[in-house]
Amino acid sequence: MLASKIVNDPFNFHSALAKFNVNRLAVAAPSLLWEEKLQDEMKYRIIEGRFLEQLRALVIPLTRGSLGTVDHFVSWFESLAEWGPGQHHALFDWLAEHATLEEMRWFLTQEAAGEAGFEDLVAYTQVKLPQQAKLECARNYWDEMGRGKPKAMHGPLLESMVHGLELNPSIDSTVWESLALGNVMVGLATSRRYTYHSLGALGVIELTAPLRAAKVSRGMERLGMPRKMRAYFDLHAALDILHSREWIQEVIRPLVTDNPECAQFIAEGALMRLKCGQQCFDRYSQEFGINIAQSKPIERRREKRNTLEIVNC
Ligand SMILES: [Fe+2]
Ligand SMILES: [Fe+2]
Repeated sequence: MLASKIVNDPFNFHSALAKFNVNRLAVAAPSLLWEEKLQDEMKYRIIEGRFLEQLRALVIPLTRGSLGTVDHFVSWFESLAEWGPGQHHALFDWLAEHATLEEMRWFLTQEAAGEAGFEDLVAYTQVKLPQQAKLECARNYWDEMGRGKPKAMHGPLLESMVHGLELNPSIDSTVWESLALGNVMVGLATSRRYTYHSLGALGVIELTAPLRAAKVSRGMERLGMPRKMRAYFDLHAALDILHSREWIQEVIRPLVTDNPECAQFIAEGALMRLKCGQQCFDRYSQEFGINIAQSKPIERRREKRNTLEIVNC
């Protein structure tokens, strides 16, 4: 088992897992050490699984309202944009209206370091899905790929912002809450037992990203950052409204219609993502000294627990 100093400290845990994920997803070649590496991988996958199960247990109480017909489930899923953890967080109005250039640069650096790469998450998740859901994943992936135009690919758009603004994202200089966000998405997408969770988590990103992206872009514009540097956020502020609608219509609705039991897992995955997002926004706010008590009135009323225990894996 891994050393207790890794598993008992949130930063040590999530930075170790994030580094493991970099290697896990990297293009590689045969190695004489492949057996040792596989045994090492197993240790990480077990602590990752324990972390994901803890997070899952934490959000299950929030899924109660999702039970019902397919129409009810779809409405419940859409309503997450209003009451889900982290929605209408004060952080984003503050970024839009008040953050200094230095604070905005710190925020963008943290976000870039925690980014898991939506296109690869979709690619991992779509394996063996039924035709209708698989086709929507393919259309979404093609948009991520800039529909064949390298300059329009979403990943490189983010990278060009990082280079253009001379940001230096790195795992070691990133708060654990941001690393946790990426770790959850990679864990769900690369573990077949969490296929439905991953679909829920990806769908809720599409659902909730536009509002946040628009506010980040507004803040960047206020601070004089050029349009080219804001393109990643401007794109998602608009395109993800369409992506969300199509993900719900072509992925979530048909899967729940064919297999009502998967609704629970889709709901859990969406809430796992939102819960980690909330934790991340709270941490950023703490770093900036923002009073978050004024935000999320609906969510605060519905959801009392706000601390995610991730240690003792
Ligand atoms: Fe994207
Ligand atoms: Fe999208």
